[in-house]
Amino acid sequence: AEFDLILRGGTVVTEADTTRCDVGIRNGKIVALADDLGTAAAEVIDATGKWILPGGIDSHVHLSQPSGPGIKMADDFETGTRSAAFGGNTMVLPFCLQQKGQSLREALKHYHAEADGRCYTDVSFHLIISDPSEQLLGQELPALVQDGYTSFKVFMTYEDLRLSDLELLQVMDVGRSTGALVMVHAENHDAIRFLTERLEREGRTAPRHHATSRPIAVEREATHRAISLAEIVDVPVMIVHVSNREAIEEIRRGRQKGLKIFGETCPQYLVLTESDLDGLNMEGAKYVCSPPPRDQESQDACWQGIEDGTFDVYSSDHCPFRYEDAAGKLAPNGRTSFRWIPNGIPGIATRLPILFSEGVVKGRISPQRFVALTSTNHARAYGLYPRKGTIAIGADADIAIWDPARTVTITHDLLHDGCDYTPYEGMEITGWPITTIVRGVTVVLDGELVSNKPQGTYIPRELSEFVSRPVMLS
Ligand code: URP
Ligand code: ZN
Ligand code: ZN
Ligand code: ZN
Repeated sequence: AEFDLILRGGTVVTEADTTRCDVGIRNGKIVALADDLGTAAAEVIDATGKWILPGGIDSHVHLSQPSGPGIKMADDFETGTRSAAFGGNTMVLPFCLQQKGQSLREALKHYHAEADGRCYTDVSFHLIISDPSEQLLGQELPALVQDGYTSFKVFMTYEDLRLSDLELLQVMDVGRSTGALVMVHAENHDAIRFLTERLEREGRTAPRHHATSRPIAVEREATHRAISLAEIVDVPVMIVHVSNREAIEEIRRGRQKGLKIFGETCPQYLVLTESDLDGLNMEGAKYVCSPPPRDQESQDACWQGIEDGTFDVYSSDHCPFRYEDAAGKLAPNGRTSFRWIPNGIPGIATRLPILFSEGVVKGRISPQRFVALTSTNHARAYGLYPRKGTIAIGADADIAIWDPARTVTITHDLLHDGCDYTPYEGMEITGWPITTIVRGVTVVLDGELVSNKPQGTYIPRELSEFVSRPVMLS
């Protein structure tokens, strides 16, 4: 047969257009796009009435990441990428966390060993820089950018991760000299610490006070500072997991000055609020993430940023901890104060359906914008385009087939992850990814895992296209 696989009768959506056409796949690549490719293939999938989208790329996920004494992340590379595939994703970019005193190469060895042979999607790593020694800044990090680790994240909060302003400037300067994209977690550490200590003195320790301890001003100030530091260094930055209008305004202001400031938001800021942290008993712990979900006005602002292009990427920030588990949300002493609840919530499988249903089906964004926000822009931002992130001849055959009309009530058992809950339980969704194809291999077919043998692979990356492209105003 001429093709290994033909997708027949579907509607192909890219960031640029929506076209009725068949897709021919050979040796893991897209080799033909035409009105009618016939059926001369080893396998044919009937996609009549379905949408054929570039597989989702989730460029912000945490898998198998050490999270403190006695605490264990709920997903490893097997369960996390399996869940990603069920959610219409073909590639994920987890973080490789440098622990204090560790070299980046040592940290990478650990994550590569964890990922090797266990991934259902393709994977690549961002580096988290927590200990920027002279050796790291001068030699190790620039060499790793050359080797295909072309993005790194810095933190302005968390005791073990945060960098001083001087260190932020030094790491950003490696971004400038190498062309790597710097991602910033923008929250003011001292302000969080001050508020946390005051709340604890007052006995206000329930999960909901996680949000009280990290108000909007904490994020706005750090976002402003991160952008100013980037301006001083003259380097592009990506502000990750943006939750509210004031932080969005800082990004817009930076762009209007001509700075290359990019923004990411996540499902939790579109559909959750801080009142979700008020659960019975400790149930609110299921929604503890940073920045915290906020209010309706913040949700509206994040939707506005999704619609008007302030946000280039929409990621999950999947960072799962089990609830009914001694090593999970309430471990080791999370019952005594919000301060000890591990930060992060699951969302790798629900990211795309939430945006499809709330965004595309409700008419807030076009199908093309959905593709840009969930796949193409991730590929462009992180050096994977045009191999990934599009449906075009020569691209990897990374594809999700969607049933745009299927209605689904989200329940945890649909997600196939290693966690024991979803923050989106009971949510009504229209539009669902039914089949996921990674480099021509069908991983999920009609909602069923095809094989228990993971075939995803590690992909070294080129430099970010966002770093070199002109500033786009929105
Ligand atoms: O609460 C969160 N977001 N946990 C994940 C780590 C991070 O800051 O992205
Ligand atoms: Zn290890
Ligand atoms: Zn973060
Ligand atoms: Zn994160």
